[in-house]
Amino acid sequence: MLTLGIESSCDDTAAAVVKDDFTLLSSFLSSQDQVHTRFGGVVPELASRSHLQAIVPAVNEALQQAKVKLSDIDLIAATQGPGLIGSLLVGFSYAKALSFVTGIPCIGVDHMAGHILSVFLEKKQPDFPFIALVVSGGTSSIYLAEGFNEFTLLGRTRDDAAGEAFDKVAKLLGYPYPGGPIVSQEAGKGNRNSIKFPRSWLEKDSLDFSFSGLKTSVLNHCNREKQKNRPLQLQDICASFQEAVCEVLVTKTLLAARLHNVKTVVMGGGVSSNPRLREVMQLQCSKEKRELFIPRPAHCTDNGAMIAIAGIQAHKKEADYSFNRDVYCRSLLA
Ligand code: KG4
Repeated sequence: MLTLGIESSCDDTAAAVVKDDFTLLSSFLSSQDQVHTRFGGVVPELASRSHLQAIVPAVNEALQQAKVKLSDIDLIAATQGPGLIGSLLVGFSYAKALSFVTGIPCIGVDHMAGHILSVFLEKKQPDFPFIALVVSGGTSSIYLAEGFNEFTLLGRTRDDAAGEAFDKVAKLLGYPYPGGPIVSQEAGKGNRNSIKFPRSWLEKDSLDFSFSGLKTSVLNHCNREKQKNRPLQLQDICASFQEAVCEVLVTKTLLAARLHNVKTVVMGGGVSSNPRLREVMQLQCSKEKRELFIPRPAHCTDNGAMIAIAGIQAHKKEADYSFNRDVYCRSLLA
């Protein structure tokens, strides 16, 4: 069975071909970073227009790299939500149109399911149940995954997502968009204990996150240093900020594992490509004798392959293939 996965929820146009359940034949991504970087963040209208230009070449490239024709495909899986509505509309409408003209069934995929299941693109795969931390530019969420289509949301961000916090802090430090990878790179050269930024734990045993206070605290620190005419120690700020984010993400994920008596932990989403987060999570999981599964960095960020594998699993249960389905901006995995 061959599945074509299409992802267009934010600022990456991605397509991939997956064979049977998890065998990746091709994965192609067209990034819009160049389009958005001069605005310091994603401009939704420009994102939709860029998807329009990129979607046909991206799908053709994925088919070509996989050495298959569209007529060989058995299932089309496309992100239906959540994300930017205009961006989602391009990918999902294109997928439905392909389905209409070819007769190949088209399934809508929740982007979060894609991130949770992206770990199955790797050789080393977890058994259910597991706790999944999904951290990206649009979300920071913890799920209990009990099967391929059985996800329970345990906690999520009440304000900024972790990636959003990285991007906003990068912007206020003067780095270009997307700032996450740059902050993490600079953090590697700084002292993570130099500035004590706050950790937001919220209520006792809360599995929700809040990162907006941390971002404000970085801003206040910069303003204080400027008032005292002291040069900003950018690498130390990056390292101390990153440490605060990592500590909260790891502590709450392991708290979820304890509260739900689950031994296995999984990570997904763009921020889970952060080397320090991977290191701290591995350290803590080893201490608690938990098994940790993290996809390689290219599978952490948005990609078409994770949409394909989530689509394949949804296809195995009762699914809706009708053409009147619409895109949505809030995840249905609640
Ligand atoms: O999952 P993803 O590709 O999609 C969106 O949410 O759009 O995640 C992108 C997010 C951005 O906020 C980016 O800055 C962040 O992930 N990110 C990182 C790193 N790599 C990407 N954040 C921290 N450290 C990284 N190494």
